[in-house]
Formats: sequence, structure tokens, C-alpha cells
Amino acid sequence: MSRAMIELHNVSKRFGAVEAVRGVDLTIAEGEIVTLLGPSGSGKTTLLRMIAGFELPDKGRIVLDGKDVTHAPPYERDVRLVFQSYALFPHLTVEQNVEFGLKMMGVSASERRERVKDAISLVRIEGKEKARPHELSGGQKQRVALARALVCKPKVLLLDEPLSALDAKLRDAMQVELKKLQQKVGITFVFVTHDQQSALVVSDRIAVVNEGRIEQYAGVAEIYHRPKTAFVASFLGESNLLTARVLSRGDGKVRLSLAAGIEVIANDDGSRQYGSQVTVAIRPEKIHVEIFEFEMDGTFHGQVTDEIFRGPLAQLSIITESGLELTAVVATRTADRDTPSKGEQVTWWVHRDDVVIVG
Ligand SMILES: Nc1ncnc2c1ncn2[C@@H]1O[C@H](COP(=O)(O)OP(=O)(O)OP(=O)(O)O)[C@@H](O)[C@H]1O
Ligand SMILES: [Mg+2]
Repeated sequence: MSRAMIELHNVSKRFGAVEAVRGVDLTIAEGEIVTLLGPSGSGKTTLLRMIAGFELPDKGRIVLDGKDVTHAPPYERDVRLVFQSYALFPHLTVEQNVEFGLKMMGVSASERRERVKDAISLVRIEGKEKARPHELSGGQKQRVALARALVCKPKVLLLDEPLSALDAKLRDAMQVELKKLQQKVGITFVFVTHDQQSALVVSDRIAVVNEGRIEQYAGVAEIYHRPKTAFVASFLGESNLLTARVLSRGDGKVRLSLAAGIEVIANDDGSRQYGSQVTVAIRPEKIHVEIFEFEMDGTFHGQVTDEIFRGPLAQLSIITESGLELTAVVATRTADRDTPSKGEQVTWWVHRDDVVIVG
């Protein structure tokens, strides 16, 4: 891995009685795009503001590009923050908004012209140079805010819910664009969102924040497929969270009972002390469902109690004879079969890699 651009060491921050951030350790590599994903009030903005220097930690250390900046003011950190509200100057044109930071930095007029032009073309708002913020759409304002930050060529760009004011279609387009932009400029991005879809699309790695702590920090695929806690499993995507009893262990495998007659295997990662009860997470799309009834080792029967059509996918509610309730997601009608519908008997199974012990 390349060198660390941002390091948080045991960082804590309290506001009166509220422990907004509790002992966070986080390392973000140079050129990486990392998302802080978590529910409202979990401490995401506080973390960003501490990286930017607008808030000082009560405890811990912050290191930027190898330099301890724990007590440094914002202007001594090579960091820019883009807000959800864009915070554009209403009386300045697009061009002047983008140029503003360069003027503050004392960049010469000719270099300013060049860099403003590049930044405007980078975020694709050519033609709007003379417009004022009130003449722009939400997406265009967002681009100006990005250009204004990027034009300064900071080492780190912090983005606090930059897409939340946009409608769903535009947000989808902008999140892909944001990722491409980041790859092009190679600046380290820290992106804050409570939207799991944005997090998956945009990030190299995701840090899931809950109640001021980081519950898991990993690449997008790992965090989706191998959630470490029940919170991560349910906050990022959907999961069946089931209580299971450990029947036996050995050979790197755990045999679990989910309900009477329903025994599944999970991988034993050995990192937990298994009691007799564990919680497992199974993603709905990992439950294989067939409308034929058949018997094989590791297959179970159930009845579809509900079906929700979602276009390419259908969500099924399934109940087994022993009363275990599951949600499965299957492709809707394919060439050789129909989607199981309400009232039908089905056969289902799950692969051991997809039964994840989360607690
Ligand atoms: N300046 C402040 N004074 C007092 N309490 C604060 C302050 N800033 C944040 N808090 C509290 O700290 C906690 C974390 O707030 P923070 O803004 O970091 O959450 P967040 O994850 O960004 O939430 P959201 O998704 O709603 O933006 C909250 O309980 C909040 O009320
Ligand atoms: Mg916030």
C-alpha cells in the first residue's frame, strides 16, 4: 500500500455530555477515496471537521502527510472541505467563486486564469463562467463547489454529504463522476454520507461509523460480503440477521442450527469466542430459491408468504415449517422459470461462505 496521507490515532471529541467521537483510529492512504458511512449523529462531520482543523480533538493525534497537525489551525493544513450547502458566494460569478481561493493564496493573475479554466473544464461547467450561483441548478452548484476546492490542489479533499441536495438520478450520475474525477486528479478524498449506495459506488474503502466509533474499515466488497458486526450487516445493504446455536466446530467450519431441522455450515474465522448462541447475517440475494421441491443435503423447504416485484429482482418472504422467516431476493422471470409467487412451496439453500457470523 502507498504511504499514509491521513492518520487518526485514538481520536476522541466530546460536546458537553455527548461523546461525538470515541477513540477512532483510521489510516487513509495517499490517493485513496474513503467514505465515512453512518447514521445521523454518528460523528461523521465531527471527524471531518477535526481533519480539517475546524474542531480540535480532546484526545489523540492527527497526522497529515507525515506531519502532526493535531493543534494546527485549518490554514496550516493542506486540506479543503466541501459542504453539503456548497457555500458559494452569491454575489460572485462562477469564475470568481472558483478563483477566490487562489487569490487568497497569492497566486499570480496569469496562473489563476489558467488554473480556473482547467478546474472549470475538469468539472464540466464550461459556458457557465459568468453565471451567478442563483442561476445554476443544484448539480451545477455542486460542480462549482468542487472546482473551487480542486483548483487549490490540496493534498486532501473532504466532502461532507456533497450529493445529498441532489435528486436521485442526478446523485447517481454525480457519484460516478466524482469517482472518475478523483481518479483523474489523484487527490486523497474523504467522503461523508449516510447513503449506502453512494458509499459503495464511490469508495475504495468504507469506514462504517456508529455512535462515534468505527465498526469496520475495509474495501467495499469485503465490507459487503464479510460484515463484522450486525450493525454493519444491516446498515450497508439488507441482511437476514438470525440467531443460531453452535452445534459443533472443527476443520475451519462451524455447524449452526437456525431452527429445528435447519442446520447450516459457516466458516469459522476463529476470531470470536463462540458461546452457544451466535448471530449470523445472510444477504437476501445469497439465498438460492427453486420452485421445485427436492431433497438434498443442505437444502430446506419453505413457503413463500409474500412477493414484492422490483423489476429485475423480486423480494420473497419465506417461512419454514419450523417457523424460521427469511427474506430472499431472486431474479424475476428468466427464460426457464417463473418467479416463485405467494403461497408456493420452494426449496432453498445457502452456501457456507455466505453465512457470516457477526456476533
Ligand atoms: N458543535 C457542537 N456542539 C454540540 N454538540 C455537537 C456539536 N457538533 C456535533 N455535536 C453532536 O455530536 C454528535 C455527532 O455529530 P455529527 O455532526 O458529527 O454527526 P453526523 O454523523 O455528521 O450526523 P449527520 O449525518 O446528521 O450529519 C451529535 O450527537 C451532535 O449533536
Ligand atoms: Mg454530518
